[in-house]
Amino acid sequence: MKLLRRAIQAFDDRTGLVTAMRQIAMHPVPPGTGWSYVFGSAVMIAFIIQVVTGTALAMGYVASAGDAYQALGFITNNAFMGSFLRGMHFFGASAMVLLLGIHMTQVFVMGCYKYPRELNWITGVVLLVLVVGIGFTGQLLRWDQIAVWAVVVAAEQASRVPVIGTPLARFILGGNTLGAQTLSRFFAMHVFFIPGLIFAFVGIHLLLVLHDGISEPPVLGEKVEPKTYLARYHKLLAERGVPFWPDAAWRDVVFGFAVVVAIALLAWFAGPPRLGPPPNPSLLAQDPAPDWYLLWYYAALALIPHGLTAPFIVLAPVIGILILLIVPPLWNRGERHPLKRPWAVAATIIVWLVVGTLWLEGIKAPWSPRFEAKPLPVAVIGASSGPVYRGGVLFHTKGCEFCHAVSGYGGARGPDLSTIGDQLTREELTSRILNGGYNMPAFASILRPDELTDVVAFLQSRSVKRSSPAQQALATH
Ligand code: HEC
Repeated sequence: MKLLRRAIQAFDDRTGLVTAMRQIAMHPVPPGTGWSYVFGSAVMIAFIIQVVTGTALAMGYVASAGDAYQALGFITNNAFMGSFLRGMHFFGASAMVLLLGIHMTQVFVMGCYKYPRELNWITGVVLLVLVVGIGFTGQLLRWDQIAVWAVVVAAEQASRVPVIGTPLARFILGGNTLGAQTLSRFFAMHVFFIPGLIFAFVGIHLLLVLHDGISEPPVLGEKVEPKTYLARYHKLLAERGVPFWPDAAWRDVVFGFAVVVAIALLAWFAGPPRLGPPPNPSLLAQDPAPDWYLLWYYAALALIPHGLTAPFIVLAPVIGILILLIVPPLWNRGERHPLKRPWAVAATIIVWLVVGTLWLEGIKAPWSPRFEAKPLPVAVIGASSGPVYRGGVLFHTKGCEFCHAVSGYGGARGPDLSTIGDQLTREELTSRILNGGYNMPAFASILRPDELTDVVAFLQSRSVKRSSPAQQALATH
């Protein structure tokens, strides 16, 4: 024991690290910082989990287009604790995004970004962008069909942006098409470039926390004025400050521990996202859904009118980030208490409502094809042999049903075709199927002429007369 103490003393004499740590641990913080202050450190802890599990995963991973999928399959199915590790990494990422969202909301609502902590807010927004970037690049490393298509879709959307579209898409893909170089690029971004930046910005962020001090809980009517704030803050610390450890930090420890346990339990019981089929560039039939934290944004892209997609895809996030970067620091004085800042609170609630609604839409995804659609029953087709029957079967096997519903069966990506026989002529139907449409593939090279005739016969038989008993009743009157 004595020896240990002497060793520590000797180490401290030469480095000063122990004293520095002790000072950080003991530095006074404002009284009354409660549970709402734990989220920042929890994001940190989730990030540390990502660094540890990510390093371990990288040891088994091969960043090559030919081997990545197998390597991941090996990690998941054969490597010791490999599936658990992937689960930790996935839920760690999810926790990081979620906790970051909560941390930012709390900082914003309680006005903690006001003088003198504006720079801390700004580095925080930079960290948000980096975290989304690391999540997006990480998804591709799964290198299965869905991951690959999510990136293809992103690049395609990016390429529609006026002026910078093509270079932007080339930057994302690392070339004109998605291939081996895309994987190398995403891997380098995911494990070197973005983590390096995150380390740097977390460092600055924490230094600023130490330099400016933790914000005191807001008090109604107590306004922030740059001229007087620091004097008041230091007086508060001198008179009623409590040591950071243990008075304030014990909550961080408890919550951080709970976060680790929750991530581990989810990783163990829910497991990592299942690997889809291996990537197959010739197979468009995949639902390119991103991981859940970007799902709301894809939903927004799918829901806005097509003409607007191009400007929206890049402009909207850029404007959003700029607003986040600039607006709070400009309002860096005045009241901090949420009850005195109704607009700030309303804006926060609106943002969360919009994201939440879009997110739910993203889960339902009415715009993406339903690959699990079941074959049409004979009762729906209305014939058990002949062209109408064959057409009804083709309607399923050729994938029309993924996008079109008939009498309640099928997807909602394209219009409901239950009564299309009343609306389009045979020529119109034929031409539509051969040529496709804005969001419908052309089937000219997919259907044989006799198959086309059958499908058209089937569609022509879709009329109000036989769509539903209620409609039949209407039609016969
Ligand atoms: C990837 C989804 C998708 C697939 C697969 C698909 N369609 Fe479509 N279809 C659409 C969309 C979306 C429209 C709406 C108009 C547009 O985007 O051009 C449409 C329009 C139509 C229309 C015109 C409907 C109207 O009200 O004007 C017909 C008819 C049609 N599709 C038939 C078919 C048939 C038959 C097949 C299979 C051989 C098929 N579609 C496969 C998405 C699809």
